[in-house]
Amino acid sequence: MLPVAPLFALLGLAVAPDAAVGSPFDKADALADCLSKRSVPTDGLGSNDWKLDAAPFNLQLNYTPISIVVPTTAKHVQDAVACAAKFGVKANAKCGGHSYASFGLGGEDGHLTIEMDRMNKVTLDNSTGIAVIEGGSRLGHVASELYNQGKRAFSHGTCPGVGVGGHALHGGYGVSSHTKGLALDWMVGATVVLANSTLVNCSATENPDLFWALRGAGGSMGVVTSFQFNTFKVPDTLTFFALAVQWPTQERALVGVQAVQDFAQTMPSELNMRLMITKSFVNLEGLYYGDKAGLQAALAPLTAKTNGTMALIQQGGWLDQVKHFGNGMALDQGHPYDYHETFYSSSLYTNALNAAQMKSFVNYWFQNAKPNKRDWYVQIDLHGGNTSAVSVPATDSTSYMHRDFLLMYSFYDRVDKGAYPADGFALMQNFVSNITSSMADSDWGMYVNYPDPKMGQKTAQVNYWGTHLPRLQSIKKAVDPTDVFHYPQGVVPA
Ligand SMILES: Cc1cc2nc3c(=O)[nH]c(=O)nc-3n(C[C@H](O)[C@H](O)[C@H](O)COP(=O)(O)OP(=O)(O)OC[C@H]3O[C@@H](n4cnc5c(N)ncnc54)[C@H](O)[C@@H]3O)c2cc1C
Ligand SMILES: *[C@@H]1O[C@H](CO)[C@@H](O)[C@H](O)[C@H]1NC(C)=O
Ligand SMILES: *[C@@H]1O[C@H](CO)[C@@H](O)[C@H](O)[C@H]1NC(C)=O
Ligand SMILES: *[C@@H]1O[C@H](CO)[C@@H](O)[C@H](O)[C@H]1NC(C)=O
Ligand SMILES: *[C@@H]1O[C@H](CO)[C@@H](O)[C@H](O)[C@H]1NC(C)=O
Ligand SMILES: *[C@@H]1O[C@H](CO)[C@@H](O)[C@H](O)[C@H]1NC(C)=O
Ligand SMILES: *[C@@H]1O[C@H](CO)[C@@H](O)[C@H](O)[C@H]1NC(C)=O
Repeated sequence: MLPVAPLFALLGLAVAPDAAVGSPFDKADALADCLSKRSVPTDGLGSNDWKLDAAPFNLQLNYTPISIVVPTTAKHVQDAVACAAKFGVKANAKCGGHSYASFGLGGEDGHLTIEMDRMNKVTLDNSTGIAVIEGGSRLGHVASELYNQGKRAFSHGTCPGVGVGGHALHGGYGVSSHTKGLALDWMVGATVVLANSTLVNCSATENPDLFWALRGAGGSMGVVTSFQFNTFKVPDTLTFFALAVQWPTQERALVGVQAVQDFAQTMPSELNMRLMITKSFVNLEGLYYGDKAGLQAALAPLTAKTNGTMALIQQGGWLDQVKHFGNGMALDQGHPYDYHETFYSSSLYTNALNAAQMKSFVNYWFQNAKPNKRDWYVQIDLHGGNTSAVSVPATDSTSYMHRDFLLMYSFYDRVDKGAYPADGFALMQNFVSNITSSMADSDWGMYVNYPDPKMGQKTAQVNYWGTHLPRLQSIKKAVDPTDVFHYPQGVVPA
């Protein structure tokens, strides 16, 4: 039997029409033409909006998009995805742009950036408590709208500029999470543009596989134009605090961290806390669902063991604590947004450390990190464990892999000015490896929302998604077989 000649050969063309747009310039022109024909709004090259939208939060990792679209409707997103797919251009949603690895820009040059931040409507249905939140909203805007429209909220991270898109699609841990769970635990539905540019709804009952994959690995699956979140009525009284601890020697730090770890396993679910370790100070800080007296009673056993002194204890309402943890930034963030840092970061989840692992951790801290002049910190969230709301849903109920780990670490090293130094990475990398070196692979993981850009795709997928990876890869194959929504640490199709 003769092979069937492809249509372009019959038409006398040397190559397929789309393959003819081979050089990057042809491709950019063809893409621009397609976007223009479909009336998708774009940022003019070199315009002020282009500069704002192309600048990631982490200035260590700058990438140049082939084009930046700024949709205001789901239809614009569908058209943008259709154009990208047609010309073999990779496309990524960017919401708050806060990815530590600049994955909102695709994590490499030449992607189509779908800048979602012009779509940030938040609409609360007061009777059901369900909020419809557009896919380009930032957390501070979400928090203030939910509060203003009905004194409601869901749990999420602290920085007002972080996007609900990246945050809630990959976890979302904040100062309410020990009490109220992850941001993705409050998601009840989403409207998504798939790689073939169709718009679909998903929830526990509609496209449940997609909904499962979105809650932990959403950036690889599609572009969420709109979320539905359940909410809770905010409590009247909360207390936020910082307990300063003085551990001048390695021996005392060892006793102190051990005490924190023991406490984490039995602490009341109303208490949310993290251990903040910097070169110059150590704090236990967090939020208590209750009043001052309740907090003091809850913390008393730990205060005694750590020699902590209250540096801050303040009772207040919902927005008081949101503003406090927002570090003084105005809450209601939208476009334009222009906050940046230059840094490298990595992450880790572990169970309670055993004596040898604890020793190795504290040893590295005192012998290597502390003497180093760099501006680093390690933040350890008391994440899971049997009193945490994060560990209540079954591990397999969403694609978020790491519910059961007790501790979640963020390793962060920034420079105040200039470029991040080439010899800087090892300081945080060795911090991680000194903790994990004696552990089995299943005894630790990494957080997709604190991505370490130094990992390759294979390693990253395993560290982020563990045993959920095969199911994610098969869902990816069904919804995005040609990897339109590719990024360097994303889920690859099975
Ligand atoms: C200052 C700062 C503070 C932080 N604090 C916390 C914290 O307290 N707790 C915590 O858990 N994390 C925290 N993070 C991490 C944060 O959760 C992640 O960086 C998150 O992914 C950022 O989301 P984004 O939308 O801002 O990022 P982006 O860079 O815009 O996107 C990140 C990823 O999500 C994808 N994405 C974004 N929007 C959509 C969408 N609508 N549809 C599909 N995919 C989408 C992107 O394609 C990309 O892969 C913090 C980060 C920073 C920089
Ligand atoms: C929503 O509910 C809150 C509290 O129950 C109430 O104060 C507010 O007025 C309601 N808003 C609307 C728009 O109905
Ligand atoms: C998705 O759900 C919304 C709200 O229920 C509905 O208006 C819309 O038509 C649905 N869209 C699709 C593509 O099913
Ligand atoms: C607490 O203070 C006592 C008395 O100064 C000291 O012996 C002990 O080592 C301290 N504990 C910690 C964890 O710092
Ligand atoms: C929680 O864990 C601690 C420490 O492992 C244990 O003592 C306690 O009984 C557990 N509580 C529950 C409710 O399982
Ligand atoms: C621990 O840190 C030291 C000092 O940076 C480094 O030389 C060593 O390789 C690290 N050990 C492991 C097991 O990663
Ligand atoms: C688009 O992809 C989805 C997921 O694979 C599929 O269910 C749907 O039929 C596709 N739509 C079209 C028009 O091809």
